[in-house]
Amino acid sequence: MLLFVFGFIGLAWLVLSVYFLPTAPDDHVEAGAEEPVWDGNLREGNNPAPFWWFWLLLAAMVFSVVYLMLYPGFGSYAGAFKWSQGGQLRDHQQEFIAEFAAVRGELLAQSLPELAADPRAMDTAAGLFRENCAACHGARATGQANLFPNLRDGDWQWGGTPEQIEQTIRHGRTAMMPSWQAVLNDEGVRNVAGYVQTLATGAVENHPGQGQYMQLCVGCHGPTGDGNPLLGAPRLNDDIWLYGGSAAAVSQTLSQGRGGQMPAFGQRLDDLQIKLLVAWLARP
Ligand code: HEC
Ligand code: HEC
Repeated sequence: MLLFVFGFIGLAWLVLSVYFLPTAPDDHVEAGAEEPVWDGNLREGNNPAPFWWFWLLLAAMVFSVVYLMLYPGFGSYAGAFKWSQGGQLRDHQQEFIAEFAAVRGELLAQSLPELAADPRAMDTAAGLFRENCAACHGARATGQANLFPNLRDGDWQWGGTPEQIEQTIRHGRTAMMPSWQAVLNDEGVRNVAGYVQTLATGAVENHPGQGQYMQLCVGCHGPTGDGNPLLGAPRLNDDIWLYGGSAAAVSQTLSQGRGGQMPAFGQRLDDLQIKLLVAWLARP
């Protein structure tokens, strides 16, 4: 603040001295001596600075004083308008909330099929998905890297009703597929993996892996591999694989187990955002 005051006074003095104090005689041109001229017409000269500069500088100085009277900047003085970034943000937010409260209420009252049929609501939902979910599930929700499930294939590990999808998004999911290496050993893993691969084509009777499957796996995946959405145990009798359907991938799933985690978004997204995402994902 002091720095500003001294700087300002110094500047004002400089400007005034340039324009209004009598110019000192040019010291390197001796009085009365010929002014040196180079190249025919190039002379040192000592013309006063153009006068419009003075008005420009004066205007800038007046502006800065007026500005500091109105807006914060001079020490802790808040300025006549009491403007602040925080205050401006608050005002904008209040306008925003007021403007959208009506729209929000309307959208919240709509049914999921109505939302799914509303292109603007679905654009918003797609945007929310891009921001929050695409990093894992891919920009088109078609899954990624044999780690993040495809959400567009109609095959729902945790259930595909709107309620189940909402539950998944709000509270997250933690899957627990145990590791079977210790129980099955290498040969057992190979056999059961082979059996799992045949489930999609209609189980082959008397497969060497069938006995152990019936013993160890039906509790979660069901006798015909239908899966169980309550446990997040995926359907095994289709050709959709989260972790891959090759012999190697299935064997790895069996021997090491899997523990996919879907993070909870109940704290990060509000009710309307979750509803829009559910409508976007559950639409046929
Ligand atoms: C305690 C319940 C439970 C038992 C018992 C169980 N699983 Fe699983 N299984 C799961 C869950 C949950 C998942 C999903 C894991 C994930 O999403 O990370 C899974 C995933 C799998 C997958 C991966 C499917 C895919 O789409 O990639 C295969 C294959 C599989 N299980 C086979 C078996 C076999 C074979 C057995 C018996 C040896 C078995 N499971 C026993 C719960 C179980
Ligand atoms: C950090 C990565 C990650 C992010 C971010 C993420 N997910 Fe997931 N999501 C997963 C994983 C991993 C699974 C599979 C969990 C399992 O193996 O059971 C999953 C599963 C799901 C499922 C269940 C699929 C089924 O077949 O039942 C839904 C629905 C889902 N996610 C929706 C979303 C939505 C909507 C968002 C954004 C709000 C989101 N996810 C953000 C990783 C993520």
